[in-house]
Amino acid sequence: MKIAIIGAGYVGLVSAAVFSKLGHKVCVVEKNKDRVANLKAGKAPFYEPNLPELLKEATKSGKLSVTDDYAQAIPNAEVIFICVGTPMLANGEPDLSYVFGAAKDIAHHIKNYCVVVDKSTVPVGTTEKVKKIIADATKLDFDVASCPEFLREGSAIENTLNPDRIVIGTDSKRARDILLEVHGKLPGERVTTDIRTAEIIKYASNAFLATKISFINEIANLCDEVGANVDDVAVGMGLDPRIGKAFLKAGIGYGGSCFPKDTKALHHMALSKDYNFKLLRAVIEVNGSQRRKFMGTIRNKLGDLNEKNIGVLGLAFKNNTDDVRESAALDIISWLTKEGAKVKGYDPEAMPNAKKALPALTTVNKAEDVAVDADAILILTEWSKFVDLNWAEMRRKVKNPVILDGRNLLNSVKMRKLGFKYYSVGRP
Ligand code: UDX
Repeated sequence: MKIAIIGAGYVGLVSAAVFSKLGHKVCVVEKNKDRVANLKAGKAPFYEPNLPELLKEATKSGKLSVTDDYAQAIPNAEVIFICVGTPMLANGEPDLSYVFGAAKDIAHHIKNYCVVVDKSTVPVGTTEKVKKIIADATKLDFDVASCPEFLREGSAIENTLNPDRIVIGTDSKRARDILLEVHGKLPGERVTTDIRTAEIIKYASNAFLATKISFINEIANLCDEVGANVDDVAVGMGLDPRIGKAFLKAGIGYGGSCFPKDTKALHHMALSKDYNFKLLRAVIEVNGSQRRKFMGTIRNKLGDLNEKNIGVLGLAFKNNTDDVRESAALDIISWLTKEGAKVKGYDPEAMPNAKKALPALTTVNKAEDVAVDADAILILTEWSKFVDLNWAEMRRKVKNPVILDGRNLLNSVKMRKLGFKYYSVGRP
């Protein structure tokens, strides 16, 4: 089928790469001319495993093209996916101006019947507003649908090629059949429903995962008080299939472009209907306090932070990504710096983005170098490669052998054997 994708961000590019791999002819429209030029030269705008290879393969086979011109992408498209950003406004609401802008642009360029699908995460009712914007501008026949995206950064291609479920929300049988065909070659259950329900499935899924994380973080805080081990608690809980093992890793809380924004947006949406979503409010609060609590532990173990040398391992909001949006690591680094600490940071992928966010941050090119003269080493992102660093050599380099592990990544017994004072979250 002929597909147009609006927006060359995470969702847009990953969808484009996967749809072209499935054999569809895909054209991506992106307004940022630099991004278009880079993509044409085979450069992906962010780090995502396997994405550059798939994009190159699809471009070479002629299945994928990129343009900044709606007139090139829209008139022939049978299905148009809106994949633009919905950044958070100061009041917690998502900014929908890019979604509505895309709807207007689509309306001016469609020439035949098509299905306009919203893949951006949007509050309930947004896809209907998209429909109205297009209907006000054209007499042509079209349908709208909501197909939320569940990809995780760092494993986005794998998630999109092997989805657990594909949610198709539309009131039109014709659109539903077309979207079932578009996704035909992918595995996973199909959930066909109405537009509003599809929109809320995405928010409910992210809010539930965020709830699991805040829940286990509160259990970790309690474990600290009573001298229990939260990692073993998580194993003991997660083996019950009704609970499940995933998203029970305690630490300094969730970050990224989705959970913080989507939980706040859902809470805001509930309030706008005079519904006080108390549980979600607590999830958001716990997540904010978890990184502050870790900062308290740092102060408690190191005393006055002024002039202290702190080595930080991990700047990204999680492992396998270069994304630093809402990263707990960057919050903690800026608090440390405010209190006079001298921070040296390392991340396998996120150093350029971290430097853009915190221009004064000093970074080192080798992970082990954060240990040089350090008063403490902090682990703030769960990169598995940090486990295999030469910790014995790092022990020799530090001034003060203290590790504060905000991701419960390292083996406490091993670290203590090497002579480190080792502290983590909810583990003795
Ligand atoms: C998330 C959802 O998983 C995905 O389905 C949705 O489409 C977008 O939002 P992503 O933001 O890429 O994906 O990251 P995810 O892997 O879910 O992690 C989010 C945050 O939670 C990270 O900061 C991570 O460190 C933290 N996390 C995750 C925990 O603290 N503990 C866990 O057990 C799992």
